[in-house]
Amino acid sequence: MDQATGTVVLQAGRTSYVLRLDGTGSTVRQIHWGPALSVAEAATLVEPEDGRDSFDGGTDAREEMPVEGGLRYGVPALEVRHPDGTSSLEPLLTGHGIQHGPDGSRLVLHFVDAGPEGTRDLAWDLHYRVRRDSDVVERWAVVRNTAAGGGRPLTLLRHAGGQWTLPTRAGYRLSSVHGAWSEEFQLAGQPLAYGETTLTSRRGHTGHQSNPWVMLDAGDATEDHGEVWSVALAAGGSWRTTVLRTPAGHCGVVSGAGHEGVEAVLEPGEELTTAVTAGVWSGTGFGGASRAWHTYVRRHVLPAGGELRPVLYNSWEATTFDVTEAGQRELADRAAALGVELFVVDDGWFGRRDDDRAGLGDWHPHPGRFPDGLRPLADHVHGLGMAFGLWVEPEMVNPDSDLFRAHPDWVLHHPDRRPSPQRHQLVLDFSRPEVAEWAFGWLDRTVRDNGVDFLKWDFNRSFSEAARRTGGTAARAVHTEHAAGFHRVLDRLRAAHPRLRVESCAGGGGRVDLAVLARTDQVWTSDNTDAVDRLTIQHGASQLYPASVLGAWVTDSPNPLTGRRVPLRFRFHAAMAGVLGIGGDLTSWTAEELAEAAALVGVYKDVRPVVQHGEQYRLGSPGGHGRAVLHVHEAAGEAVLLQWRVGGRGRRAAEPLRLPGLVEDADYRVFEPGEPPEAARVVPGRVLAVHGLAAELPQGEYRSRLLRLRRL
Ligand code: GLA
Repeated sequence: MDQATGTVVLQAGRTSYVLRLDGTGSTVRQIHWGPALSVAEAATLVEPEDGRDSFDGGTDAREEMPVEGGLRYGVPALEVRHPDGTSSLEPLLTGHGIQHGPDGSRLVLHFVDAGPEGTRDLAWDLHYRVRRDSDVVERWAVVRNTAAGGGRPLTLLRHAGGQWTLPTRAGYRLSSVHGAWSEEFQLAGQPLAYGETTLTSRRGHTGHQSNPWVMLDAGDATEDHGEVWSVALAAGGSWRTTVLRTPAGHCGVVSGAGHEGVEAVLEPGEELTTAVTAGVWSGTGFGGASRAWHTYVRRHVLPAGGELRPVLYNSWEATTFDVTEAGQRELADRAAALGVELFVVDDGWFGRRDDDRAGLGDWHPHPGRFPDGLRPLADHVHGLGMAFGLWVEPEMVNPDSDLFRAHPDWVLHHPDRRPSPQRHQLVLDFSRPEVAEWAFGWLDRTVRDNGVDFLKWDFNRSFSEAARRTGGTAARAVHTEHAAGFHRVLDRLRAAHPRLRVESCAGGGGRVDLAVLARTDQVWTSDNTDAVDRLTIQHGASQLYPASVLGAWVTDSPNPLTGRRVPLRFRFHAAMAGVLGIGGDLTSWTAEELAEAAALVGVYKDVRPVVQHGEQYRLGSPGGHGRAVLHVHEAAGEAVLLQWRVGGRGRRAAEPLRLPGLVEDADYRVFEPGEPPEAARVVPGRVLAVHGLAAELPQGEYRSRLLRLRRL
C-alpha cells in the first residue's frame, strides 16, 4: 500500500487489482484491473473525474461497494430497509487490514453507516482474497446489524459482495450463455446496452436459462487476443447479476444471491456473509479468461480438483425407469469389459418408482426390483473392479409417496394456493432443519450400507409457491436459504464419507455454479447426448468450467433425443473432450462396436491427465468449417488435439490449425493413438504455432480425430 495516496495493490497471479481509498473515507474505488503494476506505479494512477453538474454528479458504476444513499444512482450492492421504511446509508471507511500469507493476500475494508444518531446500526466489511497462483480475485462482504439487544431488525433488500468496475472503454460487449433444458450453455456476445442488463434466476436453483457469469470486452477481444474482464458468482439458489453501462461511459457489474424481492432480515447482533463473487482479467482473449477460470476451479474451488475423474457408465438412457437387478448386472458386466471404472444406477431403483409419477421421497430399494436390497448389485459391481454409484434426488417428493403422506407440510407451498407440480413432483424445503436432518439420515445410511462411492444428485424442477407465510419480510428468503440447506447436507455427507464423490445434476446442466462445485466433483452437463449438439454445449460450458468437471456420455445412434446418426468414433471424440462416460444400451452394441469402444476407452485413459488437467485452447468455432480443442499439459510435455467436422468436406480447403500453448523451441512427435511414437512425424513447436498443422479430415460427414503431441 502507498500511504500517501491511499493506493492498495492486490496481486492476483499475473494481474493487479488496484484500489484507491478516498481521503474523506466515504468511497473506495478500483482504479486499475489488468496487467501487474508495482505499488510505485499504481500510486501515479489518476482517477477519472466524476461528473460535476447537478444531474450528472455521482459515482454510478465506480464504487467498490455502492449503497443506496447519497448521490448514487447506479446499482446498489447493499440496500437496506430501516425500521422506519427509509433506506439510505452513508458509508464511512473506518479502517482496513491487510494480511499476506504464503499463497496470497487478504484485504478487509471496514465500513459503518455514518447516518444520524439512532439510525446507525449497520456495519459492513469488504473482503478481498488474491493468490499467487491464480489470476482470480475473490470478493465478498459481511454485513452486521450492530444494534444492541432490544434494538431493531434491519432488512437487506440487496446484498452483493460488491461491485466490479471496468475501465472506461468505448464499445463494450457482453458475452454470456443462455439456454434451456437439453440446450444449455449457448454462448452469445452482443454490444452492451446502455442502462442495466440483468441475468437472473428466479427458480431457486442456478437454472438452464442462464449461468451466473459474464465476460466483458471492449468489442475487440477474440479467442486469443485482447482484454476480457469476467465476473462469476458462487451462489446456489436464485441469483441476479446486473451489468450497468452509464451514458457517461462507465461499466460495473453487481452480482449476488437472490432475485428482486428476496430479502434477508438481520436481527440485532446478527451478521450475513454474502455470496462470493470472483473476477478475472485476461490479456489473452476469451481463451485466456477461460484458462484462468479453469485453473482457479481446479486448484481453489473443487474439493478434490487434483484427482482424475473415472470413466463412468450410467444406465439412464439404456433402461430409463426399467431398472432391475438382473438388467443392471448385465450392463455392469459389459461396462467392465470396456474398461469402465464407475458404474452408476440411475433413476428407478427405489420406492415404487415405476415411472416419474411416484416414489420420490421413499429412499429404500424398490421391493419388486431389488428384493434383497442394493448390496448384492453393489458387491457385484465392486467385484468387477468398478466403483458403485447411485442416482438420488433428495430435494424432491412425489405427492404419491409415503414421505408426502407423512409430511405434506415439508414442501414449499402456500396453504391457500394450489400447488403447481412439475414432472409430478414438489420441492422439499431444505432450509428446514428437520427436512435436512431426514435427508442426511437416509443418504448417510444408503452410502454406508451399500458401499456407495458416487452419487448423482439430481434436481428436476424449479421452485413455485416458494414464499413462506411468515407475515415477515423474509418470506421469500427460501430462494437462497434452500440452497444453503442443500449445501450443508452435502458438506456434512462428504465429511462423514471422505471418499464419496458427487455429480451435480438438475435435468442436465441446471445446477452448475462455483458454489456447487465447491462441494461436488463433476456435473452432468446436459441431458442432450447428441455428440454434435454437445460440441456447442461444451464450447459454452468451457468458457468457465474445466474439462475435468464436464460429464459427457457416449450414447446410442440414432440419438434418442435428436434422432441423429453419428459414428461411434465421433461420439467418443466429442465425449473425450470432457469426463468420458458411456450411457448407451450396451446390450444392443455389436461386437465390433464394443471392441472399438474398449479401444477408445483405453485411449482416453492414456490422454486423461492432459484433457482433465491440461490447459485448454479452443480452436475454430461451433458453426465454422470445423472445430478443435487442444489440451496442453506443459509439465508432462504432452498435448492432445481433438478435432471434429460435422458436414461433409466442401470445396473450400480447411485452414491449418495453428497450435498455441506449445514450447516453440522444442520439437514434438505428432501421432495418432496406436501408432508407435517412433514412427511419428517430428514437427518443431514453432512450426505448429506459426504455420499450423494440416487440418484435413477425411471426406464424409461427422469426421473426427484425436492426435497426440509429445515433446522431445
Ligand atoms: C434428469 C437427469 C437425467 C436422468 C433423469 C432421471 O433428467 O438429468 O440424466 O437422471 O433425471 O429421472
